[in-house]
Amino acid sequence: LQAGWLHVSGVLAAGMLAVVWGAHWLHLQAVRRTHHCELLHCAATAGAVDGDAEFAAFINKLQTTICDEVAAMDGSGRTFGVDRWERDPSNPAAGYGVTRVLEDGNLIEKGAVNVSIIQGVLTPQRAQSMSSRGRSINPAGGDPYKAAALSLVLHPRSPLIPTLRADVRVFEVAGAKWYGGGCDLTPVYLNEEDACEFHAHWKEVCDAHHPDYYPQFKKWCDEYFYIPARKEHRG
Ligand SMILES: *[C@@H]1O[C@H](CO)[C@@H](O)[C@H](O)[C@H]1NC(C)=O
Repeated sequence: LQAGWLHVSGVLAAGMLAVVWGAHWLHLQAVRRTHHCELLHCAATAGAVDGDAEFAAFINKLQTTICDEVAAMDGSGRTFGVDRWERDPSNPAAGYGVTRVLEDGNLIEKGAVNVSIIQGVLTPQRAQSMSSRGRSINPAGGDPYKAAALSLVLHPRSPLIPTLRADVRVFEVAGAKWYGGGCDLTPVYLNEEDACEFHAHWKEVCDAHHPDYYPQFKKWCDEYFYIPARKEHRG
């Protein structure tokens, strides 16, 4: 009898955990749909938006929204702490960042959602390395630049839910702007359905802007996430 009960409670516990994890996963999907869709949409269309002030305002607001929603679905009552830093306390124009971290939650073991909004003058080293990567930047340096970025990583407690990472950013120098960003899942246990859903989601987001984006961006990602030493892709 005892063995039977143990078996039943084991099955019950596993079933309940699966249900709970499933619910968490669905929540994560929902967050990704709303916000990461916004992230990419922003990266793809922000060129049409006038100026970086709007992009900075956008990512500041997005940070608050994402933190609030992830904390709500975490359900532990813990919230994302707020740690604001100044790049150069004697010069507020140099920029700032806001680091927000939630730890030891029910769903999230550790999650960080960061924003940084900075500006300065390109050093010759930085200018050289950027121009050597094909950007039309004066390699001598000395040009003023502005940069703004939001990056996040959410490590769930359950090994059945993949880690989610995403970022979106803009870099502006001498009147030219580059928008970039990315998103990836890193599973502990590979679940093909998750991978398919992830790619279907991003394809839909990309296709809304241009049919060439998904194949082109996926190729970039596949190259970027390849680890030659292990002959495998991460994320
Ligand atoms: C957020 O900022 C903290 C402190 O600078 C850093 O340790 C962490 O790696 C950052 N995380 C992300 C996702 O940018």
